[in-house]
Amino acid sequence: MTWKQKALIQRGCASLPFGNEELYYFLQRKFGSLRHDPDPLPNLREAAGIAADLAKAGTPPEGRRVMEVGTGRRLDMPLAFYLLGAASVDTVDLHAYLKAEIVLKAVAAIVARRDEVTAYFAPYTAAPDLARRLDRLAGVSSLPDLLRETRISYHAPTDATRTTFPDASFDIQFSYTVFEHIPYDVLLGILRECRRLLAPGGIACHHIDLSDHFAHDDPSISFVNFLRFEEKEWSGYNDNQFAYHNRLREPDFERLYKEAGHDVLEWRTWRDSRGENEIRSGAFPLASRYRGLPAEMLATVGVRVLSRSAA
Ligand SMILES: C[S@@+](CC[C@H](N)C(=O)[O-])C[C@H]1O[C@@H](n2cnc3c(N)ncnc32)[C@H](O)[C@@H]1O
Repeated sequence: MTWKQKALIQRGCASLPFGNEELYYFLQRKFGSLRHDPDPLPNLREAAGIAADLAKAGTPPEGRRVMEVGTGRRLDMPLAFYLLGAASVDTVDLHAYLKAEIVLKAVAAIVARRDEVTAYFAPYTAAPDLARRLDRLAGVSSLPDLLRETRISYHAPTDATRTTFPDASFDIQFSYTVFEHIPYDVLLGILRECRRLLAPGGIACHHIDLSDHFAHDDPSISFVNFLRFEEKEWSGYNDNQFAYHNRLREPDFERLYKEAGHDVLEWRTWRDSRGENEIRSGAFPLASRYRGLPAEMLATVGVRVLSRSAA
């Protein structure tokens, strides 16, 4: 399927007056990226990288109260924090997208591949504790059971700009591939609410995927393909609940963190060489918003930001 066909399907599903999420999920299960059983291992590996950065910043996950922004359909990341020994994980989402069938299949995969999972997390938590947590996962048979055993709480629908958690409820707030799907002004609200929610010394870690997500399934385009479209044309593909990507680049996020009153502790980036070559060689004209900006900055397709409340 080409990316434009996918965009058409997303727009069609989103335009239905009701039942749009169920239909989109059905199509993804039948024909799309969800037709295969979930593989949580890549996400767990990413979580180990996040744990390494948190530990380096003096806040390893073990024993911490953790909040996730933007759960989505799966619990891979909250489960990673459970395995890392978090005291609790509260995960919030504006939409109740969580799917028990996918979550339980992911749990089965984690249990079946416990040696690999143990290798990811062994540097950050004691082996006997990790083994006990994995044993506990092996015994769960339903979503409520899982949430109880892992001390994960799911809150949806909940807007992360406006939560009812008391001040200083958490030691760590994180998100994984969420901030690229949210408009700038809403992100500002999330990071300001985060300052209220973090206890003194608490830390935020947001991992942002700046790539054109249509390129994840269509190799004919690169991760920077969407930078060619003026806002009006792009909004035709993008302005719906299933596709929205803000196309913000690194300097936009730098401004965001400053405006939200966060001090940045770590700014880790990933660059895409195919996209950078395309921009350098002028393979396509850039939208006016991106013209004149350095190729290496436009081709930065991932950012992980660790921050805390400015004094
Ligand atoms: C790409 S999905 C989540 C992906 C998930 N973290 C993962 O790794 O699979 C982004 C999620 O952010 C949620 N979201 C968007 N705006 C939000 C807000 N203001 N508060 C909480 N969640 C929000 C969306 O409903 C969506 O489920």
